[in-house]
Amino acid sequence: MTADTRATDPADHRYPPPAELAAHANVTQETLDTAAADPEAFWAEQAKRLTWGTEPTETLDWSNPPFAKWYADGTLNAAYNCADRHVENGLGDRVAIHFEGEPGDNRDITYAELTAEVCRAANGLASLGVKSGDRVAIYLPMIPEAVISMLACARLGAIHTVIFGGFSADALSTRINDCGVEVVITADGGYRRGSPSALKPAVDKALQSTPGVRQVVVVKRTGQDTEMAEGRDVWWDDVVATQPSEHTPEMFPAEHPLFVMYTSGSTGKPKGILHTTGGYLVGTTYTMWATYDLKPETDVYWCTADIGWITGHSYVTYGPLANAATQVLYEGTPDAPHKGRWWEVIDKYKVTILHTAPTAIRTFMKWGEEIPAKFDLSSLRMMGSVGEPINPEAYNWYHEHIGRGRCPIADTWWQTETGMHMIAPMPGIETAKPGSAMTPVPGVAVDVVDDEGHSLPNGESGLLVVTKPWPAMLRTLWGDDQRYIDTYWARFGDRYFAGDGAKKDEDGDIWLLGRVDDVMNVSGHRMSTAEIESSLVGHEAVAEAAVVGASDPTTGQAIVAFVILISGFEASDEMAAELRNHVGKDIGPIAKPRQVMIVDELPKTRSGKIMRRLLRDIAENRDIGDVTTLTDSTVMDSIAKGLKK
Ligand code: WTA
Repeated sequence: MTADTRATDPADHRYPPPAELAAHANVTQETLDTAAADPEAFWAEQAKRLTWGTEPTETLDWSNPPFAKWYADGTLNAAYNCADRHVENGLGDRVAIHFEGEPGDNRDITYAELTAEVCRAANGLASLGVKSGDRVAIYLPMIPEAVISMLACARLGAIHTVIFGGFSADALSTRINDCGVEVVITADGGYRRGSPSALKPAVDKALQSTPGVRQVVVVKRTGQDTEMAEGRDVWWDDVVATQPSEHTPEMFPAEHPLFVMYTSGSTGKPKGILHTTGGYLVGTTYTMWATYDLKPETDVYWCTADIGWITGHSYVTYGPLANAATQVLYEGTPDAPHKGRWWEVIDKYKVTILHTAPTAIRTFMKWGEEIPAKFDLSSLRMMGSVGEPINPEAYNWYHEHIGRGRCPIADTWWQTETGMHMIAPMPGIETAKPGSAMTPVPGVAVDVVDDEGHSLPNGESGLLVVTKPWPAMLRTLWGDDQRYIDTYWARFGDRYFAGDGAKKDEDGDIWLLGRVDDVMNVSGHRMSTAEIESSLVGHEAVAEAAVVGASDPTTGQAIVAFVILISGFEASDEMAAELRNHVGKDIGPIAKPRQVMIVDELPKTRSGKIMRRLLRDIAENRDIGDVTTLTDSTVMDSIAKGLKK
């Protein structure tokens, strides 16, 4: 998708807040004004949403930028805030999680049950020697144990690192080693597209090169045959189910690490984003309540993100549970056993708030509006979108065919690094524009600047920066303070450089224009061109590789690889297929290029830099523009004409 599509008619639709929502909205214009006048005082106030061991008297400590501390003299336990305290407040019988398995099995978990399960899991992990500061990797399908494991780690002060189930053994071992993981929690498998899909074999393979891992806890989900390594692997039921359901939570300092989440950067090595406890929990608890206008007593919320991504951390586990919300957790794919599965789930649980991604919406558009039309979606009152720019056509379709014209849409811009929503319309106040994430959330300040960091006037495009620290901001990159400084702060001093292009329109509302670095956004998942290139050149037949993100009608961007083979290897359909599969095995199925083009040469500048823009044009079949900076402009002709594949 390009910025141009937004200038066409669908972007001119306007969606004012529904009167009833506006009349009872959580966030009012007054909130925005108060927050803007004194963001620190605002965030000090929001900290009261949590239950602290020791109440913080400090809010922000920015004395050593860019290393922020929030609420530094406070203590708290994140798991206690997401579970026990709701039971103590008389909400033990409220459903925390309506779990819906892909095969149709389901289970309702109340806050009392969740608390008991988290305590058992914490006791179980403690019995394996897990303690504060230890790292635990979680590689699970979307089942309740995923959320329970995260909270059990948090309860013990252990740092979880959740790795998306779609990542391969190699990606798993890289992350496990970088983070110094000692214990892995996984499952035999999960259900996807109607059949059991094994997870444990990838763990077994990964663990051949992870000397630091001493124990693997395996949840039984599918019952498929699973090899268990003697002395290393234990069943979840053997370690957890027999444990007492009481556990006294320790209160940790607010800056105690909560989790590390790996994400792709512009180099091949994934970045371990470190989030800490107090600020992260305040930021996600507040934005969960504000952006979705959450009414925890009556709403049924459903966020379709996997816990393997930041959205699953902030808006499946921590945000909703800290607010005592009721939510749906769905294990499988949207088309199993039929393409109306999501709408069936909404109807069944009377979901009121749906949060999903543009790529899913575009897929549903492709499948046709007659599918959701068969279901009763009248319970919905609010919807969200996250992960990539939403094109106005998809936005309008979502509004009309899912929201049935009634439900405001919050297009939420944020990142793994920001931990919480940063730009999103407040549903009771703002008239939303399809394709725009609108304005910063209360307490957050952003700007659009030029290459030199000068603030741009309305109507212009440039780079997005965050101008003030915010509570859920990343604290550093795991084990790499210097890369943290270099990546986010070196460019504009005290302003956070997000890596996204953005435009302020004539009203000052913000439109995101995609990444400005070598990071692609495929179905809302960040993928690094460098990581895929290094996988390709790792194949014995490949001499050189260049990867670009080409626009794609469904996935936003698609991965297209150009490779030069080592002499002696033949270009063929089979070779292209082999290289695609190689990347799939190396990194994971989500990283498989849509196309591998085998070429003789790659276009380079005089300084030897690959000209990705030109490759993108080829991949998108656009006319090739200015090529005067090429060392040899005939290269383009030879590429375009002589594509071997
Ligand atoms: C992109 C996902 C436009 C953006 C929460 C950002 C978006 C990257 C939006 C972060 C949005 C996310 N509109 N672009 N509403 N939301 N992005 O870390 O390029 O997986 O930098 O976090 O996704 O991806 P991440």
